[in-house]
Amino acid sequence: MPYDFDQLIDRRPSNSYKWNKYPLDALPMWLADMDFASPRAVLEALRAKVEHGIFGYEQPSAEHLEVVCERMWRLYRWRVTPDQITPLPGLVRAMNAVCRAIGQPGDGVLTHTPIYPPFLSAPVRNQRALQTTPLTLVSDGPTFHYEIDFDAFEKAIAPSAKLYFLCNPHNPGGFVFSRDQLTRLAEICLRRNVIICADEIHSELILDGSAHIPLAAIAPEIASQTITLVAPSKTFNTAGLACGFVIAPNPKTRATILAATEDDIPWINSLGLAAALAAFRDDPDTDEWLASLRQYLKENRDTLVECLTTQLPDIQTTVPEATFLAWLDCRHAGIDGDPHTFFLEKAKVAFNDGKTFGPGGDGFVRLNFGCPRSRLLEALERMKEALA
Ligand SMILES: Cc1ncc(COP(=O)(O)O)c(C=O)c1O
Repeated sequence: MPYDFDQLIDRRPSNSYKWNKYPLDALPMWLADMDFASPRAVLEALRAKVEHGIFGYEQPSAEHLEVVCERMWRLYRWRVTPDQITPLPGLVRAMNAVCRAIGQPGDGVLTHTPIYPPFLSAPVRNQRALQTTPLTLVSDGPTFHYEIDFDAFEKAIAPSAKLYFLCNPHNPGGFVFSRDQLTRLAEICLRRNVIICADEIHSELILDGSAHIPLAAIAPEIASQTITLVAPSKTFNTAGLACGFVIAPNPKTRATILAATEDDIPWINSLGLAAALAAFRDDPDTDEWLASLRQYLKENRDTLVECLTTQLPDIQTTVPEATFLAWLDCRHAGIDGDPHTFFLEKAKVAFNDGKTFGPGGDGFVRLNFGCPRSRLLEALERMKEALA
């Protein structure tokens, strides 16, 4: 069924954090959820669940786990078995559990920066030593992209490092790792005996022709040293239903993750499970919704890049291959103070503050273009006026 992504839905009454954190006159272009309704299959599954009327404790059924396996096979020809999957109420929970599961207090967890903030906080919260290595920013004139310095990566792996957090597709960089990049990173980690936790939550939001390659699908020896995090929440806009899946083919790793989740992580919300099953199930109607969503996001991205490069050339932007997140370099825009505060106060547009993404984030903001186009255009207009 076609969906009207131009429709403006009032999210304030829904307790939306994105829409209620900042003053009423600020346009929220920050937190990573979209201003679109979920596809019909998800809404129907939730309605049926509510009609049933009982919301007791639930555990995923065999069908839930099978549906995840089937999706990984259908999309990537990646063979996952139900026993390899641990469902958890969200991937930030999963990252925290993985930190506790791998190594000992004081061991290192490495990640590339700038990066989605929980990659930086999870190690610290779980008594691990955060280690970072920078992505290399490469300017393409009015736009830019990131590359990986493999020598710097290998040098950054301290003897204490036990875990590498990979974000593919990358948030906030918006890029998709190539097979060659993934293989090289994995070879280094295997050689150095570092386990990889690959957060692939944005994998179904590839906007161009490029394909997402799950790291663990590349080779069995890589799979055995990789923990993959997947969820329907970014693709189908169900983040508030807190449901994600940890895939760990290595039984020893899986057991340590299970042990790290047992005490303090609640079971998955029953509505989250219902939504995940409906979202991941093979359904032509949902596929059609997703294809139109990707097309709409791609057009939003192109509108954004075109507007910034032609009308605000002092702000350099990524051209995201994936995600609904653009990363704006405002360091040459002549802004006094940090750009997040500037745009919030002077343009009444709320972005994510680049500083929270760790080294390499100062002077940047993250813009969420998962919204009706009219809202994006309004935000761009406000930016232009504030900078004029
Ligand atoms: C890379 C990445 N991982 C995880 C999350 C959050 O996952 P969850 O809502 O399942 O905790 C986000 C949300 O923006 C994200 O961008």
